[in-house]
Amino acid sequence: MEMIFSKSNVETILDYVEEGIQIIDARGRIVYFNCSAAQYEDIHREEAIGRHILDVYPSLDPDTSTLLKAIEKGVPTFDIQQSFLSYKGNKITTVNSSFPIKTRGKIIGAIEISKNITHVQELSERVMALQEQLLYKEKKDQKSQDSTSFTFLDIIGQSKEILKVKELALKASQTSSPIMIYGETGTGKELFVHAIHASSIRRNKPFIAQNCGALPTSLLESILFGTVKGSFTGADNRAGLFELADGGTLFLDEINSMPIELQVKLLRVLQDGTIRRVGDIKTRKVDVRIVAASNEDPLIAVEQKRLRRDLYYRLNVVSLVLPQLKERIGDIPILTQFFIGKFNYKLNKNVQKISNEVLKLFENYDWPGNVRELEHVIEGAMNIMDGDTITLECLPMHFEKYYKKNIKKIDVEDISLKEALENLEIHLIKDALIKWDQNISHAADELKIPRQTLQYKIKKYKI
Ligand SMILES: Nc1ncnc2c1ncn2[C@@H]1O[C@H](COP(=O)(O)OP(=O)(O)OP(=O)(O)O)[C@@H](O)[C@H]1O
Ligand SMILES: [Mg+2]
Repeated sequence: MEMIFSKSNVETILDYVEEGIQIIDARGRIVYFNCSAAQYEDIHREEAIGRHILDVYPSLDPDTSTLLKAIEKGVPTFDIQQSFLSYKGNKITTVNSSFPIKTRGKIIGAIEISKNITHVQELSERVMALQEQLLYKEKKDQKSQDSTSFTFLDIIGQSKEILKVKELALKASQTSSPIMIYGETGTGKELFVHAIHASSIRRNKPFIAQNCGALPTSLLESILFGTVKGSFTGADNRAGLFELADGGTLFLDEINSMPIELQVKLLRVLQDGTIRRVGDIKTRKVDVRIVAASNEDPLIAVEQKRLRRDLYYRLNVVSLVLPQLKERIGDIPILTQFFIGKFNYKLNKNVQKISNEVLKLFENYDWPGNVRELEHVIEGAMNIMDGDTITLECLPMHFEKYYKKNIKKIDVEDISLKEALENLEIHLIKDALIKWDQNISHAADELKIPRQTLQYKIKKYKI
């Protein structure tokens, strides 16, 4: 065992880890640095090892260094964002988890695992700046916003399942209560949120969408709530999306993936309508309608403690549940026609319809990707086809296979009762004749019918 876990072996392994790893001793001197940390911090290991951490990172101090904090407080911290200047003066942002190292209750050092999010941070700041510019432009030119947004007329479907949700959503668009939309991927959640905003009195105010799943906690926090200069994130004075969306609608997509710590902050906005920028002491009032979406049943996320129950109830004031496409196959013909029209225009084609087989297939298929999948299948077919009808051959391979395996079988099951009974009769007669070596009298006895009747049937069915 000792051989395998030798110090040099472990160090070699740690050099292949994508995260940066640093270890300091109780006095704050660097004892270990892996390859990733050296790379993004732009420093040679030999230069750093043995030196005090604040010598190597002059822009940090005992309060802002997460490693020194771990030694001072003696408790681990997780996912803390830290911005600092590297040895060579580049601004770097990392997300750190730091752990004190103890032996027999005494702190002898600390270890830190950090992810470099400098690029993500830069990109998100760019996005925020663009977002601000865009909103500013829209304020000056209200019409452009109206012409690009979707309305309830763009939500295609006549089935009672979709009409019910449309009616609810239309009613809800007239208030400012929070809304929770649940629907599997591709069922039209985003489309609905746009329509709700476009029908509300907020339609001339900003509409902002933010995905809550993809970003580290601290970054998402500063994006949503804003930052003040000098706060430990190293950011500027910047408004967050809540402030930018003031008077309008904020769409929080994938709320089920929002980090649990942020859910508390979100709950506060919902309760008293105020936000606090990261690092700020004062609170600010905002008037924002929140629409949250989840592509899994939010109650499951609540059960599994990924979504706070109190937040769920606060968001679920209006609850919209979007049906899966397979639950409203009655809408497939109009959705298909709608997408054919859309892509005729986009691809400059003149397609008219889908073949009967394709319709049958569409009505039986599961559609795990829902309306989005249908849209893509039609777009794909229209790219490669000639003529005016979408046939089986234009569809992706797995559709053809699905057709052969499932639809043809359904065709057999589709025959009339009379035919089915006749098939059964033929089957039983053949069996009896084989059993009695084509002796009609014996076969008739076995089947408990008169000999003449059997003879008649053999003739009729050409057995
Ligand atoms: N009822 C509908 N009528 C017309 N187009 C629709 C309808 N529902 C969905 N679409 C289209 O399907 C695509 C997917 O819809 P949308 O982005 O709203 O899905 P989503 O529920 O947000 O999916 P995800 O969970 O994957 O983000 C879009 O191109 C959208 O325009
Ligand atoms: Mg979506």
